[in-house]
Amino acid sequence: MVVGRKIPYLSLSQLLVAVLAFSYLIVALGAQKQLRFGQNGKFKILQVADMHFADGKTTPCLDVFPSQMHTCSDINTTAFIERMIRAEKPDLIVFTGDNIVGFDATDAAKSLSAAFAPAISSNIPWVAVLGNHDQESTLSREGVMKHIVGLQNTLSQLNPAEAHVIDGFGNYNLEIGGVENSRFQNKSVLNLYFLDSGDYSTVPSITGYGWIKPSQQFWFQRTSANLRRAYASKPEPQKGPAPGLVYFHIPLPEFASFDSSNFTGVKQEGISSASVNSGFFTTMVQAGDVKAVFTGHDHLNDFCGELTGIQLCYAGGFGYHAYGKAGWSRRARVVVASLEKSEKGDWGPVKSIKTWKRLDDPYLTAIDGQALWSKSPAGATPAPEECPIACILPHPVCGVNGVTYWCGCPDALCAGVPVFKFGESYTARPTHFC
Ligand SMILES: *[C@@H]1O[C@H](CO)[C@@H](O)[C@H](O)[C@H]1NC(C)=O
Ligand SMILES: *[C@@H]1O[C@H](CO)[C@@H](O)[C@H](O)[C@H]1NC(C)=O
Ligand SMILES: *[C@@H]1O[C@H](CO)[C@@H](O)[C@H](O)[C@H]1NC(C)=O
Repeated sequence: MVVGRKIPYLSLSQLLVAVLAFSYLIVALGAQKQLRFGQNGKFKILQVADMHFADGKTTPCLDVFPSQMHTCSDINTTAFIERMIRAEKPDLIVFTGDNIVGFDATDAAKSLSAAFAPAISSNIPWVAVLGNHDQESTLSREGVMKHIVGLQNTLSQLNPAEAHVIDGFGNYNLEIGGVENSRFQNKSVLNLYFLDSGDYSTVPSITGYGWIKPSQQFWFQRTSANLRRAYASKPEPQKGPAPGLVYFHIPLPEFASFDSSNFTGVKQEGISSASVNSGFFTTMVQAGDVKAVFTGHDHLNDFCGELTGIQLCYAGGFGYHAYGKAGWSRRARVVVASLEKSEKGDWGPVKSIKTWKRLDDPYLTAIDGQALWSKSPAGATPAPEECPIACILPHPVCGVNGVTYWCGCPDALCAGVPVFKFGESYTARPTHFC
């Protein structure tokens, strides 16, 4: 009897130990997956748009010069990602849809695994959303997103657990924490949103591409409001929201608001958004935290233009088995958010968000470096007319304050900061001085 009673007690405590161990494991995994700014106060995102991956080396390239055809395949797309990862060492890689081009992929699961292989083997966290071509092979949209979620090192999610009803697959958000052991280590100082912009209209009276539905906008609104509330509460309560960046595939109708006088980059084809406006741009303006939106879909457009405080950006086409333009390099977009540093040397909230693109040429040439957003400190005097300097190529120099000035010495001069060395603030030893 006594023994008989001991056994359940023992197993209960064993169970408790097991449950505790399991929850520690979950906490540890959670901690491992928490994205945060590095000790350099920066967080860098590489955007890869429209890989259009199919069957690998048997899949030919499109729109390269005839002389390049016989040596060009999906493998060139893979090689470009590998070079980009080595050159930029991003903290996160975001694939914004048409990751595979279904009709030409004989086995969707195999194509997806091959397409993301360079990201997986880099050990850098990565995420993906769906385009309009991902489901055209052997997997449905849900099937594609489920396969992606099961791959290694991805932070992609099928859909948010808290949204019971939501359209599409692959709507989720990521919180980027402040620097470890800084005052902001437990706060999300940068918020990333990922949405499924659909494929094609299923409403008979509406033709063309899909759009972001009310259910998705409602989830975005609630998430944005919750993040704002957390950012405003203790410790380190902040006024206003942390900046947000939004990634999806199909551009919004508002991308058509620009011409070459007010965007950076090029527009070489029309804006292929849905034929209706579902109001997501207005929803984002209202939420107040979104500073930039990043899409793909139109491979020959790679511009950023600002409308009502939100930068609308294309990445430009990346993949070789995607339509493009011979002689116009395949490309990718990089975004870097930088934190403010207090006089005491403590890392604070996000101070600026910058972007540039890199071309798949022998030098991975960087072009169109520009500031997307910067925090305007209360009571700060506006910079003189010619500041900040607009540079075509980033020429980073490090100020004596440890801040990187991406447009080189003139940029630092505008900020009134003496230059300490060439290069980003965390690379290269002191070499030259302005
Ligand atoms: C594709 O890759 C091959 C092998 O590295 C290379 O020789 C060729 O120039 C590349 N083609 C293009 C269009 O970049
Ligand atoms: C952040 O959270 C951890 C764990 O809950 C806690 O030990 C630490 O003191 C917190 N740090 C700050 C700056 O709030
Ligand atoms: C860009 O400039 C054009 C005129 O060149 C103007 O029609 C358009 O409204 C401008 N767009 C924005 C967003 O300012």
